[in-house]
Amino acid sequence: MRQPRQLLIKKPVQQELKQRTGLEKTLTAFSLTTMGIGAIVGSGIFITPGLIAANYTGPGVMLSYLLAVVVCAMAALCYSEFSSTIPLAGSAYTYVYAIFGELIAWLLGWALISEYLFAVSSVAVSWSSYFQNLLQGFGIKLPAFLSAAAGTAGVKGGGVDIVALVVTMLVAWLLSKGIRESARINNIMVIVKILVILLFIGIAIFYVKPANYKPFLPFGAKGIVKGAAVAFYAYIGFDAVSTASEEVKNPKRNMPIGIISSLLVAAVLYVSLSAVLVGIVHYSKLNVADPVALALSLIHQNWAAGVISLGAIVGMTTVLIVMSYGGTRLLFAISRDGLLPAPLKKLNPKTKVPVINTWIFGIVASAFAAFIPIDKIAELVNIGTLSAFAMVSLGIVFLRHDERFRGLDTAFKVPGYPYLPIISFLACVYLMSQLQAFTWEAFGIWVVIGLIVYATYGYRHSRVRNAAVIDDSEPS
Ligand code: ALA
Repeated sequence: MRQPRQLLIKKPVQQELKQRTGLEKTLTAFSLTTMGIGAIVGSGIFITPGLIAANYTGPGVMLSYLLAVVVCAMAALCYSEFSSTIPLAGSAYTYVYAIFGELIAWLLGWALISEYLFAVSSVAVSWSSYFQNLLQGFGIKLPAFLSAAAGTAGVKGGGVDIVALVVTMLVAWLLSKGIRESARINNIMVIVKILVILLFIGIAIFYVKPANYKPFLPFGAKGIVKGAAVAFYAYIGFDAVSTASEEVKNPKRNMPIGIISSLLVAAVLYVSLSAVLVGIVHYSKLNVADPVALALSLIHQNWAAGVISLGAIVGMTTVLIVMSYGGTRLLFAISRDGLLPAPLKKLNPKTKVPVINTWIFGIVASAFAAFIPIDKIAELVNIGTLSAFAMVSLGIVFLRHDERFRGLDTAFKVPGYPYLPIISFLACVYLMSQLQAFTWEAFGIWVVIGLIVYATYGYRHSRVRNAAVIDDSEPS
C-alpha cells in the first residue's frame, strides 16, 4: 500500500460537510456583517483617501473607491457562492482544495497566510502611529528607538515599534479567550467606528467648497485606475468573514448576507467620506498620514479631530481582531488537512479556540510589525489577496461544471454567470500586474519558502493523500 503521488489530489469535501468539526456555531448574519465591517474599515479609510487624492486622482478620489468596490463586489459574489456551497473553515483555501487540488490549494493558503499576517502587521503599525500622536497630545513621547522599526521612512534612530508589538499581542490574548467574547467586543467597536465616520461627514459637509472639486480629475482617467489599485487595500477583509463558515448558524443564508452587506456599508462610508474630504481641503494638501484629522483642524473643529483620532484607533483595532481571527482559522484549516503541524489545529476543550495557533500567529505578526518597516511590504497584502480573489473567481466556473457538487443545495448563485466570474478573474489579474516589481520579487520568495514547507512536510503528512492510500498494484 502507498500514497497516491498526485500533487493535485482533490479534497472530498462532501464527507467533511456531514461531519461535526468541533468549532462552536455562534455567529449570526448580523455578527458576520459587523465582523466584515470590522475587518474592512481601518487604516484604509483613515489614511488612504488623502494619499490617493493627492497622488493619483485629485477630487475624483471617490471614483477610485467605486472602481475598487466593483472589483471586490464581483469577487465577493464568488466568495458567497463558494461559502454557501462549501461552508467549511479555511475560506478560499478550502474551495480551491476541492476544485483545483492540493498543491494549488497549499500555495493559495500560503499566499493567504501572507495576506493576513501582513494586513495585521501593517494595520498595527498605523495603529501605533495614531496612538503615539494621541500620546503626544498628552505630552508623552516615546524614545525614537521604541517608536518605529529600524529603517522606517522619516524616523531617525528607529529600532522596535513597541506599540505595534504590544497591540498585536493583546489581540492574540483577546482571541485566545474565545470567539463569543471577541465578537461582542468587536460589535461595540464597529458601532463606535461607524458613528465616528458619520460624525466626520455630518460636520464636514457644511464646510464643503464647490471650488475644491475643480478640476475634478487633474491627473486624467488613468489616475482613477492607479488609485483603485491602492483603494483596493481599503476593502480587504470581507474575505475574512468566509473563514468563519463553520462557526456560523445557517451559513447558506447568513454567509452571503454577511459578506455582501459589509462590503456595501464600507463602500458607502468610503465614497461619502472621500467626497466630503476633498470638498473641504484642496486635494494638493492631502498627502499626509492623518487627512481626516487635518481636515477637521483646518475647519477649526479640533475637538472633533481628537474624537476622530480616537475613533481611528478603535476602528483599526477591529481590523486587527478580525484579520487575526481569519489568519488563525486559516492555519487551523490547513493544519487539520495535515499540511501544517498538528499543534496548530489543537482546540482548547473549554473555549474551542485553537489557542497554540492563535499565539503563534500573534507572535509572528507582532514581530513583523515591530521590526520590519512595513511600508516596504504593505503591497504584499494586496498581492496575496488578489491571487486568492482570482482563484476563487475562476473556481466558480469549475464549481458549476463539477459533477461532485451538482447535488449540493446552494442557497446563493453568482448572477451573470459565466461572465461575472471571468471578468472578476481578469480584473484581479490586471490589478496584480499594476503592483511594483519589488512586491512580485518578495512574493516569489514567499512562494519558494511555501514550496519548501510543502515538499518537506505537507506532502508526506497530507490527510487527503494519506486517506486515499492505494494498492501498489494500481497505477498511480
Ligand atoms: N481593509 C483594511 C484596512 O483598511 C486592511 O485597514
